[in-house]
Amino acid sequence: MTTELKVEAEFSKVIRERHSVRKYDPSWKISDEEIKAILDDAILAPSSSNLQPWRFIVITDPALKEQLLPIANNQQQVVDASATIAVIGDIEAYRNAEKIWEYAEAAGYVTAEVGAAMAKRSRDGYSSMPVQKLKEIALVDGGLVSMQLMLAAKAKGYDTVPMGGFHPDKFRELFSIPERYETVMLIALGKAAAEGRSTARLPLEEVVQWNGFEG
Ligand SMILES: Cc1cc2nc3c(=O)[nH]c(=O)nc-3n(C[C@H](O)[C@H](O)[C@H](O)COP(=O)(O)O)c2cc1C
Repeated sequence: MTTELKVEAEFSKVIRERHSVRKYDPSWKISDEEIKAILDDAILAPSSSNLQPWRFIVITDPALKEQLLPIANNQQQVVDASATIAVIGDIEAYRNAEKIWEYAEAAGYVTAEVGAAMAKRSRDGYSSMPVQKLKEIALVDGGLVSMQLMLAAKAKGYDTVPMGGFHPDKFRELFSIPERYETVMLIALGKAAAEGRSTARLPLEEVVQWNGFEG
């Protein structure tokens, strides 16, 4: 269908034109509504058992950005970008299992009976997992939502850079983040003042093996 081809072409453009941007127009303000629209797209990402462990801290306050700057290794984009979004992951996301399935029931996707059974299965299964496993899940799901956030932003004409270069303990302290949450990454979001540089990728043959793996 023509419409499908059009959507595919646009997606192709978005993923090819996304580059990590580190120079932002400090005078550009992205409205709260636009940021919410980007996050609304991002949270459509898949997650383990749909438990959606991601949580976001949207940092737009200039004074708070200044406090974040040294914690983020003085990466200037933290201050210059319109917002820095911290993605954190709830390692006890299974506590929301009932709520999530109630939303599904309210939307007419499942019966109350099926929803309750699915919620119980998730809660029982995840609450008995080792903490390390729950952290890994929060990080994987957090990575997926982060990628989707960056592409959603690009599709709306904005740029981003994901940042792992920050001190998680100091970040945790600044926002009084309980142990229950893992820090995933920071994402600067704003209007580019200079294009991100193009980066090379390993050729497909070097990263793909078919039907087996030889290292
Ligand atoms: C998990 C993660 C952490 C990163 N941390 C930083 C960072 O702290 N500072 C930075 O400038 N770029 C950071 N980057 C951006 C990478 O350098 C960049 O994605 C990579 O060079 C590929 O370039 P591209 O994003 O323009 O395609 C990070 C990327 C990822 C995925």
